[in-house]
Amino acid sequence: MTQFDYLLYAPWLSPMNLLKDLEHSNHVTQTIIHKLDQGQEKIPLLPELNPPYWEFGHLIWFHEFWVHRHGLESNPSFLTQADTLFNSSEISHDDRWLAKIPTIDVLMNYFSDVMERTFTILRSGSVSSEQAYFIQLALYHEDMHNEAFAYMWQSLGYTWPLEPSLRFIEDQENNFEPRYIHISERKLLLGSAQNSGFIFDNEKWQHEVLVPEFSISSHAVSNGEYLEFLKSLNNAEISSTEHQPAYWKKEGDTWFERFHEQWLAIDLKAPVRHISAHNAEKYCLWRGVRLPTENELSVLMTSVSEHWQPSSLWEWTSSTFEPFEGFSPDPYQDYSAPWFDGKYRVLKGWSKFTPHYLRRPQFRNFYLPSRRDFFCGFRTCLA
Ligand SMILES: [Fe+2]
Repeated sequence: MTQFDYLLYAPWLSPMNLLKDLEHSNHVTQTIIHKLDQGQEKIPLLPELNPPYWEFGHLIWFHEFWVHRHGLESNPSFLTQADTLFNSSEISHDDRWLAKIPTIDVLMNYFSDVMERTFTILRSGSVSSEQAYFIQLALYHEDMHNEAFAYMWQSLGYTWPLEPSLRFIEDQENNFEPRYIHISERKLLLGSAQNSGFIFDNEKWQHEVLVPEFSISSHAVSNGEYLEFLKSLNNAEISSTEHQPAYWKKEGDTWFERFHEQWLAIDLKAPVRHISAHNAEKYCLWRGVRLPTENELSVLMTSVSEHWQPSSLWEWTSSTFEPFEGFSPDPYQDYSAPWFDGKYRVLKGWSKFTPHYLRRPQFRNFYLPSRRDFFCGFRTCLA
């Protein structure tokens, strides 16, 4: 297989549906950027953040580069210096704070120019397979950056200007007590098949794996359960932020968690979020359980949804992010391949900020196990 595998990702969304989804994602992006107060675009240099205007410029650049420039720098950009400024493969993370980012007015014009060209293609109704693929790629890339804005806004304590709020409890769809579900040995079709619609390169290709029997929790670990673990530690460990979820604090006997700019008393029944994989594993060790593997969580998430409670969080697994056999990178080569270095963990699921069309059980997310700033949680398996 080659990097032209993407031609096997049909069926494509119809031009009208693509137009609708792109208009919606653009509305989200523009609202986030427009509602920033003056000065809020200047943020501290931290490894997990990007300057907001840089991130905005980057997602426009990505769309223009793949949809309108055929992935070639020799095809000029609408914006001078766009490649030097906004190609994430070329500008180092720290240099993004030093770059001379154009003014917000220039960026907004760049955004409208690029998107208007795409809308013209989509409204024409005649879209080639190649165009459909790259428009979907750019759209989903924009959606992922919109989700990154949501967790960046959470890190910075900024008000989130759109729905949804971060309150997780109202997501509880299935009203039943948490329990362990025993799942007998079975064959799982892992990954995505050809011609099953748009996929990312790390899902290639669907293959059968044998999953030995296991027992997995119907619910993600709750704030209340995690608090029991915290209370088992000594006082110094409890008050150090190392074991706490990010954005928790204790006042008197009450624990609070921050939802963007708002501190609220923790909801003991809500899934615990903003936990690193390392802390999830410390919890498991204390409780005598373990994290699920990628295969086990995939079995659960492809099973009938009445049996388990989604958490609306990306859920950690114990599996290292690795290519499936026969992997080959797609044209945007840096999507997966650079991260197959054994340092990243697979997460399954979705967050409240993930559009419904990216909530596919085959989707493989991946982060360093030390990260806890994004919307992550975990469920457990009996050891
Ligand atoms: Fe990106």
